[in-house]
Amino acid sequence: MNIAVFSAHAFERPHLEAATSGSHVFRFLDVRCTPETAILAEGCACASIFGNDDASASTLDVLAAHGVQYLALRSAGYNHVDLHAATRLGIRVANVPAYSPYAVAEHTVALMLALNRKIVRAHSRVREMNFSVDGLTGFDMHGKTVAVIGTGRIGSVLCTILRGFGCTVLAVDPIHQASLEAIGVRYVDLDTACTAADIVSLLVPLMPSTRHIINARTIALMKRGVMLINTSRGGLVDTVAVIAALKTGHIGYLGLDVYEQEAGIFFHDKSDTILQDDVLARLMTFPNVLITSHQAFLTEEALRNIAATTMASVDAWQEGRSSETELNQVAR
Ligand code: NAI
Repeated sequence: MNIAVFSAHAFERPHLEAATSGSHVFRFLDVRCTPETAILAEGCACASIFGNDDASASTLDVLAAHGVQYLALRSAGYNHVDLHAATRLGIRVANVPAYSPYAVAEHTVALMLALNRKIVRAHSRVREMNFSVDGLTGFDMHGKTVAVIGTGRIGSVLCTILRGFGCTVLAVDPIHQASLEAIGVRYVDLDTACTAADIVSLLVPLMPSTRHIINARTIALMKRGVMLINTSRGGLVDTVAVIAALKTGHIGYLGLDVYEQEAGIFFHDKSDTILQDDVLARLMTFPNVLITSHQAFLTEEALRNIAATTMASVDAWQEGRSSETELNQVAR
């Protein structure tokens, strides 16, 4: 099968090539999939897209008109895909629901520790031969209360790691996991978690009901100096409200791997251009904000698993079977 791979990053191409049975032909495309670029899939039965591609109805219309019958997402999240439109157009869509919950949970902890122990600032100082540690005081993770919003695959790994640190873990999720309760995780409602936590970490999917789940109201509930970590999806956070709280010191630390307007910025080298996004530019001025460019998933193990699941879907479609990770029923 011919596969148009949009947003084909250098770090994933070898993994996709290694995972293919050899009967598929890749068309690697540097560009994001959008209504304007979708025509580049002409002649390919399958298009494969990444988390920041646009699979809205208008893009899917163009893909379908140029012969695309299958859409293989190289991501777990599918908030960027109009599944109703795909189903209407007869395009079968599959995602990679799980590739390494450890990758994302461990990056979440990396952000917490780097912010807490001011690792980036410490590294810069030492590189400048400044061996002073004034201003680098952190806090013990042991004994702190962490709110984990969303205890699915990734959130539950995070809870387990945090319990290992000796944190009190308050979980927010309509589905309670007995295995987490057995290690001392306590399920509470969102407001209780926000009020009690020293650290709030988001691992829920982005849906209409979770958009801006962190907003001026929920921030006001939080302790002064709280640490907020978002490694899930940018749209979960009202960034303007977060900036206001950073300015007053109400939010003491912010760690982001995702940002609401990241599409077209994250994953790209913009070092020679003028940043046009004033909200992101403001965020980057705070000394207590640490931003990574949507790399929480980026481990060798995760890339191997993403490639293997993506190509398993393509193999299944080629053989006239359904992919095990097909999403269209979500839209029915
Ligand atoms: P999952 O589907 O296993 O778990 C999500 C959990 O959120 C479920 O337990 C669900 O019941 C819960 N949930 C849904 N609505 C909720 C609400 N309103 N309040 C509290 N909990 C709610 O998903 P998984 O695999 O754990 O991934 C979580 C998210 O992490 C993904 O949706 C994605 O947005 C993000 N992610 C980020 C990556 C990165 O590189 N930064 C990579 C992969 C995923």
